[in-house]
Amino acid sequence: MKGRIHLYQGNILDVDCEVIVNAANSSLMGGGGVDGAIHRAAGRDLKDACKPLAPCPTGEVRVTEGFGLSPRLIFHTVGPVWRGGDQGEAELLKACYRHCLEELVRRDLTSIAFPAISTGVYGYPANEAAGIAVNTCREFARDHEVKVILTAFEDRMATAFEGALDQP
Ligand code: APR
Repeated sequence: MKGRIHLYQGNILDVDCEVIVNAANSSLMGGGGVDGAIHRAAGRDLKDACKPLAPCPTGEVRVTEGFGLSPRLIFHTVGPVWRGGDQGEAELLKACYRHCLEELVRRDLTSIAFPAISTGVYGYPANEAAGIAVNTCREFARDHEVKVILTAFEDRMATAFEGALDQP
């Protein structure tokens, strides 16, 4: 394993890293949850930067600068809405993590913090989402020297991430 995966419990805005990932919707115009927190903190300039990048399809990523936040860049990705699990949700969620990690190394950056994409408003079950996040990041970290921080804002997600990280 070349890279490392860490669990951080708290607000993604407090993580010290080069990139934070936003769990956005395809309009990229902000919303609730982590999206709302990032847009509130970054202000109007972030909205203006996002406008020409929309719509962002599910599973893909769009990049903006950090607009005064400590991370240099914000990667906006759109997770799948949970519709029971047989609508390609797992592949789409995996694509979110994978595309963000690929974008990170393409830009010669190494540290990235993820929220638990899709586990809030979009309803993805915590354990399944944590398993996909951990497995996708682990697979990538085998070949790349990255520092990945998985952020759990709620206790239930911390427990789910811990469970997934405990799996060999
Ligand atoms: N830092 C880290 N994680 C956070 C924060 C924060 N400040 N705020 C919320 N979270 C966590 C939630 O607890 C949840 O586990 O982020 C995870 C994802 O939840 P949401 O933000 O609701 O994102 P998601 O489920 O992907 O839904 C996306 O919600 O707000 C809208 O515009 C957004 O329409 C989009 C949808």
